[in-house]
Amino acid sequence: MPGSNENARLSTLIDEESLQARVRELGAQIREEYGDEPITCIGVLKGSFLFMADLVRAIGGPVRCEFLGGSRNHRGTRSTGILRITHDLKKSIEGQNCLLIEDIVDTGLTMEYLMRMLKVRNPTSIKIASLLDKPSNRKVEVDIDYVGFTIPDEFVVGYGLDLQDFYRNLPYIAVYHP
Ligand code: IMP
Repeated sequence: MPGSNENARLSTLIDEESLQARVRELGAQIREEYGDEPITCIGVLKGSFLFMADLVRAIGGPVRCEFLGGSRNHRGTRSTGILRITHDLKKSIEGQNCLLIEDIVDTGLTMEYLMRMLKVRNPTSIKIASLLDKPSNRKVEVDIDYVGFTIPDEFVVGYGLDLQDFYRNLPYIAVYHP
């Protein structure tokens, strides 16, 4: 079972200290760019939950927190199938500055879908913050406004990212060697 005594399969890619430092930097940059404006932070469940928790504290100032749940079927470490919305926003985002917070952009299909879905709800603005960017596997172009780290085409786990729902609680990002 993943997550139990399989540490030999993991190699650290981004350690905890580097993660925390980069998230603080992103938070400061975002707050600087928005000034005193309220920001509606929309976390994409479940993978973004740790990144979002740290990022909203690093952003500081007036912030609302909302969540969107999307789920893709996975076969091993490759995602298959269509995005299913499992949890929609509970409030209107009309007239708000929104920041969509994602753990990783891989093919780009999830972000493209969610951006289309949110834009028609008339936010004043909508930007994307993604902890990780895996550009080598892109299928559609996505404009990511804030990227934590660009990584090679490896399957990674930790700090919210999972394999079969395990490893999310690692405080660092590791490559999973199947
Ligand atoms: P995209 O739609 O292909 O860009 O995929 C985005 C989603 O796929 C992410 O939110 C993750 O849930 C999942 N994903 C893509 N690459 C990885 C990875 O290396 N580790 C864990 N999940 C991943």
